[in-house]
Amino acid sequence: MDTVEPSGRSVLKGRRLLLGVTGGIAAYKACVLTRLLRLRGASVRVVMTRTAERFVGPATFAALTDHRVYTDLFDDDPGHVLHVRLAHEADIVVVAPATANVIAKLAFGIADDLLTSTLLEARCPFVIAPAMHTGMWEHEATQANIAALAERGVRVVGPARGSLAAGDEGVGRMSEPDEILAVIEDVLSRGKDLAGRRVVVTAGPTWEPIDPVRFVGNRSTGRMGFAVAAEAYGRGADVTLVVGPGTIEPPEGPRVVRVTTADEMRHAVFDAAEGADAVVMAAAVADFRPERTAGSKIKKEDGTPDLRLVPTPDILGELSREAGERVLVGFAAETDDVEAGGRDKLARKGVDLLVANQVGREGMGFGSETNRAAIFSRTGEGEPLREWSKRELAAAICDRLVKLLTR
Ligand code: C5P
Repeated sequence: MDTVEPSGRSVLKGRRLLLGVTGGIAAYKACVLTRLLRLRGASVRVVMTRTAERFVGPATFAALTDHRVYTDLFDDDPGHVLHVRLAHEADIVVVAPATANVIAKLAFGIADDLLTSTLLEARCPFVIAPAMHTGMWEHEATQANIAALAERGVRVVGPARGSLAAGDEGVGRMSEPDEILAVIEDVLSRGKDLAGRRVVVTAGPTWEPIDPVRFVGNRSTGRMGFAVAAEAYGRGADVTLVVGPGTIEPPEGPRVVRVTTADEMRHAVFDAAEGADAVVMAAAVADFRPERTAGSKIKKEDGTPDLRLVPTPDILGELSREAGERVLVGFAAETDDVEAGGRDKLARKGVDLLVANQVGREGMGFGSETNRAAIFSRTGEGEPLREWSKRELAAAICDRLVKLLTR
């Protein structure tokens, strides 16, 4: 490990890291990880669970960190509530090794010792490196807990395949310290990569009125646009979120502008896009509206109304025809050939990125937590069609936004 040179430019320099060590034989590798973190200039505080102490002594981590190691909720910490102080001081929390037990507690919000109480109080980014026997890792309870944590934005590293405790082999071995280190650096460096950028995001449907009580609309809930807005905001962007009607609650943070129709959305987007660095059109804008809106409720007794539809303004199309350096991101909801539809729309809409979603199948697209989607990019760095959580997809979109904005 001494081959690693201290780096003056590491993103870890001066960062405060809380390392949670739980009970597994991989706890010895957490010592190596601590050393690597220290060599890169991080300040590390270690919290161990009781079972972790059966594998490695607190004195080892105390020597490696130059700080006292805490193991008990009631450890002395004059003038502070220990777990609250530890949680608030951390820029990033790492749990390595993370046992099935601590993963389950974290997923369910159980706080029954110093480490889990600290984890529940912490609001910074989390990285966890699971380590356990294959059966425990593959158990559907563990897999469900891991999926829940990943959905909440926890970065999960590994586990890898290899030799496990008691001479066994399989998936469950904790990732190597240098791999965990790389993920920690990645999480910290992406922290605020949209700082100073102005991003406009649209979300939800539009409703095009037929009369004062009826409208032409669609099933969009706003989830996808909200995920992009929350991600961009979390990464430091100044975000304006233009939201259509009837959505779920928008995330806290972005400036929210409420609209109802495509025409109103167009005005709001053009206002907000003035001087913006990027516009992400995740809204399911109605393509057609009734030509005429009746001033009062259309009566059934008057017979079946003749509804003539006319096109709404193509907001994205208009934006792309405007001069400017703005990065434009469009979405395409496709029920059939997602790849062909996506590629075609990328060119036709004149956007930099086009996210093509599969819709119309159970558990996909509108209202669901996951998307089956592909990303097409004008510069060629796309992503093939696959399943994503909306949060994951939002992160991939923001990664590409950062690249396009710094080219
Ligand atoms: O052409 P289509 O409606 O499938 O394109 C979808 C993309 O265009 C989405 O990003 C959507 O927000 C945007 N759009 C728009 N104005 C419209 C219709 C769709 O900006 N009137």
